[in-house]
Formats: sequence, structure tokens, C-alpha cells
Amino acid sequence: MVDLLADRALYRFYDDEASPSLDELRERYARQSAGSSADGSETWHNWILRLLATGSVAGFVQATVAGDVVDLAWVVGTSYQGQGLATEATLAVCDAIAPAGSGVVVQAHIAPGNAASEAVAGRIGLALTSDVDADGERLWRSPAG
Ligand SMILES: CC(C)(COP(=O)(O)OP(=O)(O)OC[C@H]1O[C@@H](n2cnc3c(N)ncnc32)[C@H](O)[C@@H]1OP(=O)(O)O)[C@@H](O)C(=O)NCCC(=O)NCCS
Repeated sequence: MVDLLADRALYRFYDDEASPSLDELRERYARQSAGSSADGSETWHNWILRLLATGSVAGFVQATVAGDVVDLAWVVGTSYQGQGLATEATLAVCDAIAPAGSGVVVQAHIAPGNAASEAVAGRIGLALTSDVDADGERLWRSPAG
């Protein structure tokens, strides 16, 4: 993952975000593995994507659950993009933590102009809302499931 996340092409819409060092990534994953925030208000689910054929790491999907709302984020390494991996992975995550009938709302914060990410959001049934977060990212949201 440290090699995959070193690729600055992934940060086109996040150029103020540094690529993590190995130590930083270890620390991040240790923190994420706790599975919840210290006050218990959020639960954290993090998956590394691996190719079935080779076992190579291809990206990640991250889900932050607060009450009945799930925030999703996704990254697929440049050399693995355009094969439907983000769509496949995020659909699997939605099935796992926001199955139809659960009443859970799924949302994603997407920078204006991030067409690839907008396409993923559309593919998994999220629609653009008029809500904008503090970073200027637009919220895409599902109807309550
Ligand atoms: C966004 C991202 C995860 C998409 O990953 P991916 O595995 O290539 O996505 P998919 O192959 O599942 O493609 C989903 C859709 O996006 C479209 N798409 C992919 N790259 C695109 C691009 N550069 N421009 C426009 N559409 C694009 C695909 O054609 C597909 O649409 P379709 O199903 O109608 O054909 C990947 O580009 C990425 O990691 N980007 C950098 C990090 C990032 O911006 N993350 C998002 C934070 S919200």
C-alpha cells in the first residue's frame, strides 16, 4: 500500500495531502483497526482491495458509520483503474453495512470535477445533493435503504 499510495496522480484533487510513509501508514492502520472512535460515536470499517488472481493490493475502501449514516471513501491505484474495481468494492461494502431495508443512508464527499469518483457514486446509486462540506466537497447520497 505504501508504494501504491506514493503515486501523486491519486492526489489530483487532494494535492495538500502528503503520501504516507511506511511508518505513517502502519500507524494509520493500527489506529483504524481499533474499529471505532474513542467516544464510540463512530465505527470504522476499512478494507484493502486485493486482486483475486494475484493477491496484489489494488486500493482501499473506507466506511465511517455514525448512527444511520455511512460515509464512504475509495481509492484505486492508477494501474488498476478503469476495470470496475471501485464499483465492485463499494457495492460489496454497501451490501455488507447498508443492505437494502436497513434504513442506512450512504454518502460520499466528492471534489467538484472528480469525474471518476462521481461515476462510481452514480454506479452505486448515490445522487448529487446541494450539500457541500467544509472542504468544498459535494455530498452524494443514497435514499435511505
Ligand atoms: C475514483 C477511483 C477510485 C475510481 O476507480 P476505478 O476502479 O477506476 O473505478 P471504476 O473502474 O469502478 O469506474 C467506475 C466508473 O468511473 C468511470 N471512470 C473511471 N475513470 C474515469 C475518469 N478518469 N473520468 C471519467 N470517468 C471515469 C468508469 O468509466 C466507470 O463508469 P461506467 O461504469 O459508466 O463505465 C479512482 O479513479 C481513484 O482512486 N482516484 C484517485 C483517488 C480519488 O479521487 N478517490 C475518490 C475520493 S472521493
